Amino acid sequence: MPWYKEWFNSPYYHKLYGGRDKTEAEQLVSNLLDFFNPDSKAVFLDLACGKGRHARQIANRGFVTYGVDLSSESILAARSEPLINLTFDVHDMRQVYKANTFDYIFNLFTSFGYFDSENDTILTLNSVNSELKSQGIFVQDYFNANKVIHQLVPHELKSIDGIDFEIEKHIADKRVYKSIKFKDQGYDYRFCEQVSLYTLDDFKSFYKQTGFEILHVFGDYNLGHFNELESDRLILVSKKSNS
Ligand SMILES: C[S@@+](CC[C@H](N)C(=O)[O-])C[C@H]1O[C@@H](n2cnc3c(N)ncnc32)[C@H](O)[C@@H]1O
Repeated sequence: MPWYKEWFNSPYYHKLYGGRDKTEAEQLVSNLLDFFNPDSKAVFLDLACGKGRHARQIANRGFVTYGVDLSSESILAARSEPLINLTFDVHDMRQVYKANTFDYIFNLFTSFGYFDSENDTILTLNSVNSELKSQGIFVQDYFNANKVIHQLVPHELKSIDGIDFEIEKHIADKRVYKSIKFKDQGYDYRFCEQVSLYTLDDFKSFYKQTGFEILHVFGDYNLGHFNELESDRLILVSKKSNS
């Protein structure tokens, strides 16, 4: 089974990344919606939505919103709260979910760059393009690869809810590898993450191949300027440029 299918479907992923919560989602969604000022009839897709923390904030603002994710456990959790303006489905982002349907597609918190083959990266972006209406907007929030490389912490111990997560990171083949080891209730666990260190130039090349025009590049959740050395995030706002 690919690492991303196993790890993101596990309760331990949600424990380790518990800080990436509703409050953070509320801030980013609020900043993005204020920035775009979408038409009240705009339809949104939160692509790789996890438990739906961003999708729920968009729907709370009155927009018809869909959230899709590969993790069935996350989608179950997303559906466990009231679903007003909201639809959640298990779906692989490489495939087209609904063609020509969305005014905005958001892909947030580094929910990309997982595949072994760049063909799958291109396939995903082609699917996003097909899912957008003409002139639709795509927002992709990725880590700033340069900062990840230069500020890599190779060993770390994080104690959360009585579990000691031992985290080791290294870089090879333009990817960051993270190994996560811990014990829980007498059992040993080991998971990994492998994420491509895509830079702004990589995204420019992918977008050119798949029909997107970059409109803005931001470097943090307050939508400040992107600085290759200092920014925490690489947030790309692009427009579907073919139809
Ligand atoms: C880092 S998490 C972020 C989740 C969510 N966007 C958030 O901010 O809470 C990445 C998500 O991507 C999902 N994912 C990984 N590969 C996927 C795929 N091929 N299609 C759809 N979702 C996928 C995982 O299941 C996981 O929920």
